[in-house]
Order: sequence, then C-alpha cells, then structure tokens
Amino acid sequence: MIRIENASYIYPESGHAAVCGVNLTIQKGEFVTILGHNGSGKSTLAKLLNGVLLPTEGKVFVCDMDTALEENIFPIRSRVGMVFQNPDNQIVATVVEEDVAFGPENLGLPSEEIRERVDAALRAVDMYAYRKHAPHLLSGGQKQRVAIAGIIAMKPSCIVLDEPTAMLDPVGRKEVMDTVLRLNREEEITVVLITHFMQEAALSDRVIVTENGHIIDEGTPTEVLTKREKLQKARLDSPLATELLENLAEAGMPVDTKIIDVEACVNSICTALGKE
Ligand SMILES: Nc1ncnc2c1ncn2[C@@H]1O[C@H](COP(=O)(O)OP(=O)(O)OP(=O)(O)O)[C@@H](O)[C@H]1O
Ligand SMILES: [Mg+2]
Repeated sequence: MIRIENASYIYPESGHAAVCGVNLTIQKGEFVTILGHNGSGKSTLAKLLNGVLLPTEGKVFVCDMDTALEENIFPIRSRVGMVFQNPDNQIVATVVEEDVAFGPENLGLPSEEIRERVDAALRAVDMYAYRKHAPHLLSGGQKQRVAIAGIIAMKPSCIVLDEPTAMLDPVGRKEVMDTVLRLNREEEITVVLITHFMQEAALSDRVIVTENGHIIDEGTPTEVLTKREKLQKARLDSPLATELLENLAEAGMPVDTKIIDVEACVNSICTALGKE
C-alpha cells in the first residue's frame, strides 16, 4: 500500500532533519502504530505518507505512485486520508452531514452518490443519528468521529490518524478507537495510527518506534512493548500490565512478563498464585 525508501525530511526553515533515512512498507489492510516521544518525527513521517510533505531525500510510493510527481498527488490524496489531533480544526460546516459531504463534493461526484457516501460514512462511525446536528454541540469523541466520517466518505484505502484521541476523555478515546478498529477489521481500511497511548498501540498489528527521525524498533505490539530498556531509551512508558508483571517478577513471583494486556496479566498472576 505504502512504501518508504530511504526517506529523509529536512525542514527548510530550521535545517532540522525530522525524518532520517526511513525504510518502511505498510501492507494493504494492516494496522500500524507509530510511537515516539515529542519531536521524534512522527507527524513529519505521517505527512510524507500522502504527499503533504515531499521527502528531501529518498522516495515515498503510495500504490506504486511516487508522491514527488505532481500528477500523482490527487490520486494519492484520494487513497490516503488524514485525521488530526484537534477535531475543531477539521470541521468546516455547521451541520454534521454537510461537513461529511464536503470532501465528496470537492471530488465533483453526482449528488446521489454524495448522499449515499455521506450516509454510509456516518453509519460506519455510528453518527448517523446526529446527521442534522450542529458539530460544535457534539462531544470531542463525536466530533472526531464526524471528522473520520468526512475522510471515509472519500473512500480512501488508508487512513493516517495523528494522535486522534489526544484531546479526548477515556470514553471519547474508546469511541474513536472502536471506530478505527472496526474500519480496519470490517472495511479492510489500512490504518496508520500515531499515538502516545500504549493501550491503543496494543490493538494494532505492528508497532514502529521512532526516535530522532529514525525507526529504532519494529514488531508486534507484544514484541515491542515488552522491551522495557529500549522503551525507556526512547522516553516511552511500558504498558501498565507489563510494568506490574515486571515488578512482580522482580519480587520473585513466577509470572510471564511478555504480556501487554490486562486480561492476560490477570491470568498470569492467577496461575502464579495457583488459582486457575
Ligand atoms: N514546520 C516546522 N519547521 C521546522 N521544524 C519543524 C517543523 N515541524 C516540526 N519541526 C521539527 O521537526 C521535529 C519533528 O517534529 P514532529 O512534529 O514530526 O514530531 P512528533 O514526533 O510528531 O512530535 P509530537 O509528539 O510532539 O507531535 C521536531 O524537532 C520539530 O521541532
Ligand atoms: Mg506530532
């Protein structure tokens, strides 16, 4: 779906190399999380994925189309949609369904097709009941789901979400993550998620860790998120379940420390206590 070949990005204003020699392939239908501390280059990398930024060195291909070629930009942007942190900055209309229609209208589609796409997109994010509502009266999680519907209505094959849950409370975060997971699993939309939440990373197929513009680790969530020292070096926390199990293991309890989720954590502790 997306192939990044030895790509670097240097901001012309500052001369800062935000992405350095990155090689990464994202398969169709995959759910990839990018983790990394503030300033490690995650957002810059995200912007290389649909040609918002062009690599100053190396290449980025979307469905084998080079992002550096002007004629590819439109087809690339219609395949890779972006969702950002602040839903307020992404909502443009005063009625939910008009907002979702904005993208398809810009594609110049016939009005019947727009209608169908808007309804399907609002249903996909479970916001159809709110189609006539004013976006500014919705909760943060609802607004972010409307923003996602606006992207889905463009029928992209991939969505890149840059900290979509950063401004949301736990309920809003769950709503958005449930939506993202459903789009990935049921609609087979490729997902690239940037987040600081380990529980969100744990839901993905593959986790990438960035530091100073480099990819410093890559693997399944369990592989990546149970390497405490490597995570600490990248200024990231271990998942709470893993941290608890590591502390229990250090205290002499025979628990499995290669675990990232709460349920498996509870099972491991119960087994260690002889309670099946
Ligand atoms: N427009 C810009 N001009 C110059 N430098 C920039 C610009 N945007 C980002 N940078 C720099 O590039 C580096 C990477 O920034 P980027 O926004 O990609 O990091 P990030 O991993 O997304 O961080 P965060 O977790 O805070 O969102 C940082 O050192 C940042 O200061
Ligand atoms: Mg960022």
